[in-house]
Amino acid sequence: MRSFIHLSRLPHLSSRVLTRSCLPISAARLPVLRFHSFTTSTFKMTDRTFKLNTGADIPALGLGTWQSAPGEVATAVEHAVTTGYKLVDGAYCYGNEDEVGQGLKAAFDKGIKREDVFVVSKVWASYNTRVEEGLDKSLKSLGLDYVDLFLVHWPLLLNPNGNDDRFPKLPDGSRDIIRDYSHLETWKQMEAVYKTGKTKAVGVSNYSKKYLEELLPVCTVVPAVNQIENHPALPQQEIVDLCRERGIHIMAYSPFGSTGGPLFTAEPVVKVADKHSVKPAAVLLSYNLSRGSTVLAKSVTPARIDANKAVIDLDAEDVKTLDDYSAQLTKEGKLQRFVYPPFGINFGFPDKQ
Ligand SMILES: NC(=O)c1ccc[n+]([C@@H]2O[C@H](COP(=O)([O-])OP(=O)(O)OC[C@H]3O[C@@H](n4cnc5c(N)ncnc54)[C@H](OP(=O)(O)O)[C@@H]3O)[C@@H](O)[C@H]2O)c1
Repeated sequence: MRSFIHLSRLPHLSSRVLTRSCLPISAARLPVLRFHSFTTSTFKMTDRTFKLNTGADIPALGLGTWQSAPGEVATAVEHAVTTGYKLVDGAYCYGNEDEVGQGLKAAFDKGIKREDVFVVSKVWASYNTRVEEGLDKSLKSLGLDYVDLFLVHWPLLLNPNGNDDRFPKLPDGSRDIIRDYSHLETWKQMEAVYKTGKTKAVGVSNYSKKYLEELLPVCTVVPAVNQIENHPALPQQEIVDLCRERGIHIMAYSPFGSTGGPLFTAEPVVKVADKHSVKPAAVLLSYNLSRGSTVLAKSVTPARIDANKAVIDLDAEDVKTLDDYSAQLTKEGKLQRFVYPPFGINFGFPDKQ
């Protein structure tokens, strides 16, 4: 199953990150990343970056802010950014961008420079026909004049004139979705906002291979990023492979299986963690890093925010253990997708057919 691929074919990977110009890979996986400056088995992910197709660097680790409660998220963002995190992932839909902005401001007041933090936001589905308006709202909440990356959160249209700004519903309680809509229209607007300079890069989120194959032949700006759920119980290898071929960087979300971290107790994850005397969180973060992806870890707990900076250098045996787990779940039809809002739309994910 192993093949060799030259790193020049991985344009989004920072050459700083890798010491070898040719690595054995299993499918699109980079099994062992060697780092210049670390001789022990753990290292800080906050120092690592990948390269986007815009030429910009994107940090390897980001702080997630989904479900980070009011009263907690500003402190979490401030703590993360002042202790080394260089990426904060947010979204209009999370309803907490004001507080994310407060946390950023507190960090800037302590001397962190705006240009040293990579800020991500997303246009929510009820704004998919009003992309610039959505971006302006996020910028206002965040207190910024640009974001580093703006993503299409989900490729569907919720009624922009519905009974709620974010989650419009029909009288029967179901989601108020406009069916006569093409995600390609939203992408045209993303290309337009890119030109305004209010975002340094544009990308997508929750795009399956099918949706990317619709978008890529017609876009004039190739998305810089596809942000997708990614962990050993949902490797989504077909998307990762296509994105790598087309120079689209993967941002992995819900690396722990989302709220409560259900993947911390998955037996193969525990096995690798025990072998290296680290917590399962470190294995799950390292898994995504070993695939050449940026990974987003959400926490509002300072000690966990600190702990999530440390990752390990997975060896070939670890990669095999985790890949075998993925293969077994795939074979049994037991892949686990933890984040799938009830839109009732077929987004083209093989596990949701
Ligand atoms: N594009 C999209 O559609 C999309 C969808 C989902 C997520 N995301 C992004 O990805 C981010 C991460 O995903 P997620 O929030 O779903 O979940 P996640 O990061 O996989 O897991 C978060 C959970 O793990 C806990 N946790 C964090 N670090 C821990 C540690 N070291 N030890 C034990 N528990 C730990 C957190 O608890 P505490 O907070 O209580 O510490 C929280 O309950 C989101 O916040 C968001 O920014 C994007």
